[in-house]
Amino acid sequence: MKNKFVFFSGLLAVLLTSCGNKAYEPKDYVLQLDYSKQYRILQLTDTHIGDKDNTKLHYDFMDLTIKEAHPNFIIVTGDVFTFASKGTAINYFNWLDSHKVPWTITFGNHDEQCWYSIDWITGYLNKLNEKRIKDGSSYCVFKDLQDDKVQGNANFAINLMKDDKVFEQLIVMDSNRYNYNGYFGYDYFHQDQIDWYSALVKETKKENGDVTVPSLMFYHIPLPEVRDAWAAAKKDESLILNPTGSKAQENEEPCNPDYNSGFYKVIKELGSTHGMYFGHDHINNYIINYEGIHFGYGIKATDRVYADDSLLGGRVITLNEDHSLSYEDYYHEYKEVM
Ligand SMILES: [Fe+2]
Repeated sequence: MKNKFVFFSGLLAVLLTSCGNKAYEPKDYVLQLDYSKQYRILQLTDTHIGDKDNTKLHYDFMDLTIKEAHPNFIIVTGDVFTFASKGTAINYFNWLDSHKVPWTITFGNHDEQCWYSIDWITGYLNKLNEKRIKDGSSYCVFKDLQDDKVQGNANFAINLMKDDKVFEQLIVMDSNRYNYNGYFGYDYFHQDQIDWYSALVKETKKENGDVTVPSLMFYHIPLPEVRDAWAAAKKDESLILNPTGSKAQENEEPCNPDYNSGFYKVIKELGSTHGMYFGHDHINNYIINYEGIHFGYGIKATDRVYADDSLLGGRVITLNEDHSLSYEDYYHEYKEVM
């Protein structure tokens, strides 16, 4: 997405981003939830909530989608906040908790443009997750190992368990913010993150009797291959997966990283991930079956920053018992809550 906050963000990134050096095992990054039949994952994206917003209006608006969606799990795929203070962030998490549905977030390029450090928010989310495990007083499912070697602030996995086995793995990754080294623009998945993903998928396979466990990925900035997916869909409409009543749209050119770090090649080779869901480009909404992997732009959940008022709401990704995926797109207008 276009933005005018990049220099501010860059300064913050330099000042605030911490990078530890502790090595962890793949299992250290894994949380668990129970899988249930026709598991409904609600993807919200690019909420961009800040201190100056009428948060009640935005929460009421998103509640239209959440109540309709009947989700088993909610994920916000980045740009959750812009110019938010701690109080605004805490209220947002309290609002998410009020639905009594497990939820998580990952970070977008704007999530460091706030009045707190990225370490504060990851620490806060880690504590909410600990409360969930300890006494069920939160529904937050989040784990960032703040002193690890892996780039980014939200790289973890959620094993969906069925009959004491990992049925499917939800892999949450941080697509980072901005790049200043070699080109100025959106950052990419770094090699240590690709290695982390690779180790995670291989270890999960090993523990599953050498059988690859299917996975879905959630992050913010689309991979460069999103352009190939759309190009393929323009030639073959059967690749478009948007449900009836939700026309697949590319209303802006993807703002993917200029540099291709080779993540897609690794994902293809390992053969685990069959769906990837992201946001970032607010007025695109397509899901494309590209080379057997679903590339899905989310549906923007608020009208903040820039938006198409006819493309606001959310998407339910249903994970069926045969690991197939189906989609329901929900659209709403602000006048419904005004
Ligand atoms: Fe955004």
